[in-house]
Amino acid sequence: MRVIITGSPGTGKSLIAKQLSRQLGIQLVQIRKVAIENLLVGKSHEVDIRRLAHALAFLKNRKDFVAEGHLACEMKLPADFVFVLRTNPDTLKKRLAKRKYPKGKLGENLMAEMLDYCTQRCENVYGRKPLELDTSRLTVAASVRKLAMAIKQKKKRLDSVDYSGYLRAYLRPSG
Ligand SMILES: Nc1ncnc2c1ncn2[C@@H]1O[C@H](COP(=O)(O)OP(=O)(O)OP(=O)(O)O)[C@@H](O)[C@H]1O
Ligand SMILES: [Mg+2]
Repeated sequence: MRVIITGSPGTGKSLIAKQLSRQLGIQLVQIRKVAIENLLVGKSHEVDIRRLAHALAFLKNRKDFVAEGHLACEMKLPADFVFVLRTNPDTLKKRLAKRKYPKGKLGENLMAEMLDYCTQRCENVYGRKPLELDTSRLTVAASVRKLAMAIKQKKKRLDSVDYSGYLRAYLRPSG
């Protein structure tokens, strides 16, 4: 079983993928770790996608894995299931505020979530609609259960998420 878990930063991919891989008893591939090990992360944290795709070519020979990372939506990895984790922008904002991101990065990430960036990117890159899971009101364990169930039942669809309504408030001039 080849499972991809992607989504905007802070949506819970690492935590959820770790538990899911344990539960399924299959290898966990952390894309960020592969990028670091292959010295593909630049000074401003940018990653060379072409070289990262090359470094992940070993996945072609694997039958079972859970691969997680937001960059999974930028390159076509072998996959039976592509999941995009989604989080309500207000909740995501609180989570990301705890990270020491450079100015502008928080806003960029929130905007990506409001605009369905990962979902639409996956649709283009993988040539099919990914399965979205809104984890905003779920515990990590509940999210893992939902993903495991979707895999078992070979679901083609989970949640249908649209956070574009948050854009108006976000774009409102302050002061
Ligand atoms: N229900 C939930 N599901 C997932 N994560 C949650 C949940 N509630 C809180 N969190 C918190 O969200 C934060 C982000 O989790 P995690 O590091 O797994 O995200 P990520 O998607 O892997 O982020 P990144 O793309 O930056 O690696 C963690 O601090 C985690 O504790
Ligand atoms: Mg992570």
